[in-house]
Amino acid sequence: MPSKTDQRLHALTTATRLCFQRLYDADPQLLVAAPGRVNLIGEHTDYNDGFVLPVAIDRHVVLAASPRRDRYVQLYAADFDQACTFSLDDIEHDSGTRWSNYERGVAWALQEAGYELPGLDIVLSSNVPIGSGLSSSAAIEVATAFAFQLAGNLPLDGVQRALLCQKAENEFVGMRCGIMDQYIISLGKRDHALLIDCRSLDYELVPIPAGCALVVCDTQKRRGLVDSEYNTRRHECEQGAQMLGIPALRDIGAEEFRTREAELPPVIRKRCRHVVTENHRVLDAVQSLRTNELARFGELMNASHVSLRDDYQVSCVELDAMVQVAWEQQGVLGARMTGAGFGGCTVNLVQEQDADRFQQKVASGYTAITDLEPEIYVCKAEEGVRRLD
Ligand code: GLA
Repeated sequence: MPSKTDQRLHALTTATRLCFQRLYDADPQLLVAAPGRVNLIGEHTDYNDGFVLPVAIDRHVVLAASPRRDRYVQLYAADFDQACTFSLDDIEHDSGTRWSNYERGVAWALQEAGYELPGLDIVLSSNVPIGSGLSSSAAIEVATAFAFQLAGNLPLDGVQRALLCQKAENEFVGMRCGIMDQYIISLGKRDHALLIDCRSLDYELVPIPAGCALVVCDTQKRRGLVDSEYNTRRHECEQGAQMLGIPALRDIGAEEFRTREAELPPVIRKRCRHVVTENHRVLDAVQSLRTNELARFGELMNASHVSLRDDYQVSCVELDAMVQVAWEQQGVLGARMTGAGFGGCTVNLVQEQDADRFQQKVASGYTAITDLEPEIYVCKAEEGVRRLD
C-alpha cells in the first residue's frame, strides 16, 4: 500500500503529465519533483554564515518538460491557469506573470554561469502552499534548474545548483535570501534533517527521531511585510558584525557577545543577540537529537521562538497565538515560528500518539483567538529534488 506521501505526489504528477499532454500534444520527456521545506531551528542565521537545521517536506512542485529546437521557454502554471513565453536570448522580468520570474531568474543565472541551455516546454503544478513560508518559490527555482540540468546535460552538483538558484532570487527576483531554502530543496534526504554550515556549505545528516510527528501549522496570515523587513534585518546584522569588527555574526560566541553587546546600539544589539544565541541553539539541538533528548530539543525550539519574537522581532500576533496554543497541549515537545516570519507557519514536534488530538486542539484554540481557520499538516522528511520516471 503506497504511503500518503507517495499517493499525493503520484496524483500531482499524473495531473501535471496530463496537462502537458493536452497542451503540447506529446508526452513530457522529463518529470521532476522538488519539495517544500520547513526549518526545525536556526532562523535568520543562514545569511550570517551560521547554522540551520531544515527538512525537505512531502509537499511538492512537479515540473514536466521537453526540450524545444529553438531558444524559447514556454511555461504553463497549472495552478494559475496562466501561460507565458520568454527567449533565452533576452530574459526580462514580467510583472504580469510574477510566478514566472523564478524560472526566468534561474535561466538567467545558469546562463550567467556560462551554461548553454536548451529551450523548453514546461508545465508546473504545486501543492506547496503559496506565501506560507514553506518555500514554494525556492521549490520552483530548484525544479527549474534541475530540468535545465537534465535537458542540457549540465555538470552541476547539488550545492552549485542551490547557489545558482539563490543568485536568481537575490539578483533577478530581488529578495536577498540566504542559502537555506535552495540548499535543503536541492539536497534534502528522506527521514533526515540537514545540519547545514552556511559558511563552508557542508552538511551533516541528522535522523528525525522515531515516535514523534512533525506538524506544520499554517496561520493563514500571508507574509506581507516580509521582503522589505527581511532585507532590513539582513542589513542590521551586517552593521552589527562590522561594529564588532568580525566578518560575520558566526564569528562571535554567546559568551564573548555578552561581554561586548554594550558596544552596539539597542536595535542592532537585539538583532545580533538573536543570531548569536540561535547558532548555539542549533548546535545544541543537533546534539540533543543525536542523544535522543527530545525534551531538550523542544525547549530549544521554544527558546528560538521567544528570541525571534522579542529580539529579532519577526513574529506577529497570529504566529504568537499559534505557538502559545501549541505550548499548552499535551504531547508537544516544542513549537516555534518557522521561515522568514511576519505570518506563514509554525513548526511543532509532537509525540506521535498525541498528534491527532494536538491538531484538533490547536486548530480550535487558534480560531478562538484569531477567527482564522488554520491549515495543519503532518509532514514527513522527504528527498530533495529528483527525477520521476
Ligand atoms: C527565508 C529565506 C532563508 C532564511 C529564512 C529565515 O526563508 O529564504 O534564506 O533566511 O527566511 O531563516
